[in-house]
Amino acid sequence: MKRENNDTVVSIKDLVVHYETHEGVVEAVNGVSFEIKKGEVLGLVGETGAGKTTIALSIMGLLPVPPAHVIDGEIILDGEILLGKQKVQKGRKKKDVVVAKSNHEMRHIRGKKVSMIFQDPMTALNPVRYVGDQIAEVVELHNICSAKEATQRAKEMMEKVGIPAERYYEYPHQFSGGMRQRVIIAIALACEPELLLADEPTTALDVTIQAQVLDMMRTLQREQQTALLMITHDLGIVAEMCDRCAIIYGGQIVECGDLEHIFDRPRHPYTRGLLSSIPSLEKDVSRLSPIPGLVADPMDLPEYCTFYDRCDKHCESCKTGDPDLVEAEPGHFVRCFRVEKGSV
Ligand SMILES: Nc1ncnc2c1ncn2[C@@H]1O[C@H](COP(=O)(O)OP(=O)(O)OP(=O)(O)O)[C@@H](O)[C@H]1O
Ligand SMILES: [Mg+2]
Repeated sequence: MKRENNDTVVSIKDLVVHYETHEGVVEAVNGVSFEIKKGEVLGLVGETGAGKTTIALSIMGLLPVPPAHVIDGEIILDGEILLGKQKVQKGRKKKDVVVAKSNHEMRHIRGKKVSMIFQDPMTALNPVRYVGDQIAEVVELHNICSAKEATQRAKEMMEKVGIPAERYYEYPHQFSGGMRQRVIIAIALACEPELLLADEPTTALDVTIQAQVLDMMRTLQREQQTALLMITHDLGIVAEMCDRCAIIYGGQIVECGDLEHIFDRPRHPYTRGLLSSIPSLEKDVSRLSPIPGLVADPMDLPEYCTFYDRCDKHCESCKTGDPDLVEAEPGHFVRCFRVEKGSV
């Protein structure tokens, strides 16, 4: 089924994903909504276990089912519904059920319309195949072109990511970590997908190589006008790479806006905490202040504001329920009772 679309590449609405394990239900993603437009880079930032990878896997149709279970939500990519509610006859009644595209259908979409760079990219290459062939393979699979043309395209992509095409017939172990990561980016962008999901793409690299790889990725993303979801826990990367940023806590977006909103006028106590726990050359601070307490346990989320226990601004009325994401100023959304009431 197709839907009207403008320049929105991906739209996610009210996504709820749980993992049903023997130990209990992990409420990993709890009503996440966002959109990314053509050529736009959205940063998704949060601590470990916040639900970032689960969101990306939901878009790719690669959630491990079971234990993963999509409870609610809609994902539309380039006008096509990847996941959405459908009325299904259950006994004598019709019920709303979340239906996702089949693995077979997703195989034609992955790589061509949406690609993902996985969190542990060092294991993503096949150790016994030539690097160049691994890029050519995706092109051949989706672009219905000859093997010769696919080889040519792979060589072009190698040059674009800064690897001489002469190294086509080499194995991954002959490449450094930074070069392997460049190959993975070449594979992800070879078919010029509409959307790229980059899950901590440079965490495994040292800082100088990280900067080069990010720079190259940004250049290619601009050239191809790819919509990019940049998952990271590093606000420095967001400042470098992104147009907008969503801060996620306990499987919910707690703040979302332009870089100016997030860095200059953060409103949520969690975002403020994240910002004051990173070093700055401009501000003269004697100590960095980490956010006290532990990250929210998705197996035991409270009925009220998820950040309540760690929030230095909380008051009793914050326990009255789960705050909504409200627009504090145009394009700047915050999930906090105090912001809702205008007291922060
Ligand atoms: N296959 C699984 N089975 C059970 N629980 C899972 C599974 N995968 C993830 N989880 C749980 O879901 C929650 C969200 O995990 P997710 O991997 O999405 O977090 P993340 O934000 O990507 O974290 P990180 O920054 O550490 O990569 C975590 O509590 C995690 O333990
Ligand atoms: Mg992750």
